[in-house]
Amino acid sequence: MITLRISATLLFFGAVNLITACGGSGHNANENLTSDTMPTSKTSSVLQQKYGNADGKEITQYTLKNAGGMEVKLINYGGTITNIMVPDSSGNFGDVVLGFDSMDGYLKKENPYFGCITGRYANRIAKGKFSIDGKSYQLPINNNGNTLHGGINGFNRKFWDAELLPGDSSIKFSYLSKDGEEGFPGNCKVEVKYSLSQNNELKIEYTATTDKPTAVNITNHSYFNLSAGKDSTILGHEIFINADKYVAVDNELIPTSELLPVKGTSMDFTVPATIGSDIAKVAGGYDHTYVLNKKSTTEPELAVTVLDPNSGRYMELFTTEPGVQFYSGNFLDGSLTGKNGMKYVKNGGLALEAQHFPDSPNQPSFPNTILRPGETFNQATIYKFSVKK
Ligand code: BGC
Repeated sequence: MITLRISATLLFFGAVNLITACGGSGHNANENLTSDTMPTSKTSSVLQQKYGNADGKEITQYTLKNAGGMEVKLINYGGTITNIMVPDSSGNFGDVVLGFDSMDGYLKKENPYFGCITGRYANRIAKGKFSIDGKSYQLPINNNGNTLHGGINGFNRKFWDAELLPGDSSIKFSYLSKDGEEGFPGNCKVEVKYSLSQNNELKIEYTATTDKPTAVNITNHSYFNLSAGKDSTILGHEIFINADKYVAVDNELIPTSELLPVKGTSMDFTVPATIGSDIAKVAGGYDHTYVLNKKSTTEPELAVTVLDPNSGRYMELFTTEPGVQFYSGNFLDGSLTGKNGMKYVKNGGLALEAQHFPDSPNQPSFPNTILRPGETFNQATIYKFSVKK
């Protein structure tokens, strides 16, 4: 079984160095190899190959693969998901995330956070200001007078250490965000583990610890288009969001503090509906945090489902987080050229960012996002892929 799978990899990637040591302890993923494969169990493997350079460091691409052929490719720049290959209802594999063909694209300042880990604080902090225990902090401003996704050089622009893990095809990225980085207090140690199961589930588990009280909100910023390049927009996708309320925002997308009911409005996806059906009635398009209907804060629960009726591809999102940002790719405008020369037009992809609510450090009524020494931030989110005929 292992031999067969490795042969396929050999054919696909050309010259390959096989690592014989497997199972047992983790494997240092940053060795200076062009391309190699680590069998992580009898049915899974992780392949690594050189992808490019950033800030003088070599960037590696890792491919998680399961027995059914699903693949997830990631790079250690931004802990970014570059590709997710899943089958449609006829068994044809296609790449369902937006991104670029090479490192150059990911380095562009116009890169709209494709596939990356966002932090230290995902989404907006009003005017980049907050205070903890009476001490005020000022973050860099990068979005209409506010701070978006952790500032100018957030987690998405960092080099992450990588370690391959045994068992399911999985990889752990680690990053130490130093005290004062982008204005945030405390040395914050972050780990993000991506695992691919045999059931086509991509699980992302995040932990963070700190040595000073700090604000933490970490998520993944993949943009999905389940047509895998066949349809230029996601307006025909059907979405269900398990939320009776959403976080109301002002015209700078800063929360007003109100949690408004979705019922009877264009925000209501408690019954699956086509994204395009009401989007014109929502100023700017969907870019809102939904307040998930939840029973648990420790077990991932069903939050969102998305169906592309044409390809039959179906995605379910489960999370431990209290909210999910449904962003319908409103700021994509056709100026970015992505994979295979594709122009990413408005609504070309949708992001579903499992997270705490925006601007929580300034919103006492929202679930807490202040992490203190001795505590561990934990979040787990699963993207599960299947088909519906
Ligand atoms: C935000 C959008 C923002 C986008 C950046 C999303 O998480 O909600 O407002 O434009 O990230 O790519």
